Amino acid sequence: MSGEAYDVVVVGSCMTDLVSQAPRLPRVGETIHGHKFFIGFGGKGANQCVQAARMGAKTAMVCKVGKDVFGDNYIQNFKNNGISTDYVEQTGDAATGAATIIVNDTGENAIVIVAGANMLLGDAELLKMQGALSHAKVLICQLEISPDTSLKALRAAREHHVKTIFNPAPAVPDLSPEFYKLSDIFCCNESEAEILLGETVATVEDAGKVSLKLLGRGCGSVIVTLGSQGCVVLSAQDSCPKHIPTTKVTSVDTTGAGDSFIGALAFYLAYYPSLSLEELARRANVVAGLSVQKEGTQTSYPYQRDLPEELL
Ligand SMILES: Nc1ncnc2c1ncn2[C@@H]1O[C@H](COP(=O)(O)OP(=O)(O)OP(=O)(O)O)[C@@H](O)[C@H]1O
Ligand SMILES: *[C@@H]1O[C@H](CO)[C@@H](O)[C@H](O)[C@H]1NC(C)=O
Repeated sequence: MSGEAYDVVVVGSCMTDLVSQAPRLPRVGETIHGHKFFIGFGGKGANQCVQAARMGAKTAMVCKVGKDVFGDNYIQNFKNNGISTDYVEQTGDAATGAATIIVNDTGENAIVIVAGANMLLGDAELLKMQGALSHAKVLICQLEISPDTSLKALRAAREHHVKTIFNPAPAVPDLSPEFYKLSDIFCCNESEAEILLGETVATVEDAGKVSLKLLGRGCGSVIVTLGSQGCVVLSAQDSCPKHIPTTKVTSVDTTGAGDSFIGALAFYLAYYPSLSLEELARRANVVAGLSVQKEGTQTSYPYQRDLPEELL
């Protein structure tokens, strides 16, 4: 078993985005011509890991890709970002996760996600990463892999006294109660909070109310992200939710902003464990705010060198 000390370990998903831009979405049985095609690296787990790595965190990604060209390319992408691929497995039993995305000229889209190899990440990979996890500072999990695998990873983190950030995305209305109890920081956006609690979250005030309810389910602390409004934070030591606004920026493309926020949050939690939740969130707001000013998902994520000095 490896004795390497990682700052941030991500157990999560990896997806290749296949994006076609066309004047409109095709109808059933129809073939139309688009004007642009590109391949992007995505998947919430991988996105969050890439942002943490670009901040300067020593990271390891625990995921499964296919024995195919997309899997090979994704492994190279992790290496290019300085992420350890010791726990990236390739399977011949499924294809690398893929999102086929069609975007029309008004920005509407139609998406098919095939999770593929992501769903085969399981006990064998978790067993292999125990050594790395035991020396880690922060574990991040989401819900784009089997929920059972995410739960087991979170339980293992607790056993090793590793701090946990859980991002319940994509959200489900009947999330197992254990996820809340295993989350040191439970971080979701407005629509995920709505799905989890079955109530509308439209304002900062609503976000404060739902954060109290989520905390009541047993999390150590809660962050609800609010796009251009920043986020609301609440920790168990504090009974009052706090709004952490963000500075106004010119947003070009908000895709992946939530993952940038979480990756940055993990970096700060690992490097500056004594910062308050408010300060962690304020800094993650600034990093995610930089990501919305550039096109794309991982392509928009800032590096440590892009950050103002006060953030490091
Ligand atoms: N228009 C914006 N201006 C400034 N910061 C932004 C803007 N949009 C998002 N952010 C930053 O990104 C964080 C996450 O955004 P948001 O709540 O939209 O997450 P999300 O919905 O999960 O993102 P995604 O677009 O990836 O689905 C916010 O808390 C904020 O810090
Ligand atoms: C919240 O995140 C999900 C992805 O999990 C995304 O589909 C949704 O649009 C986001 N909601 C908001 C309000 O940004």
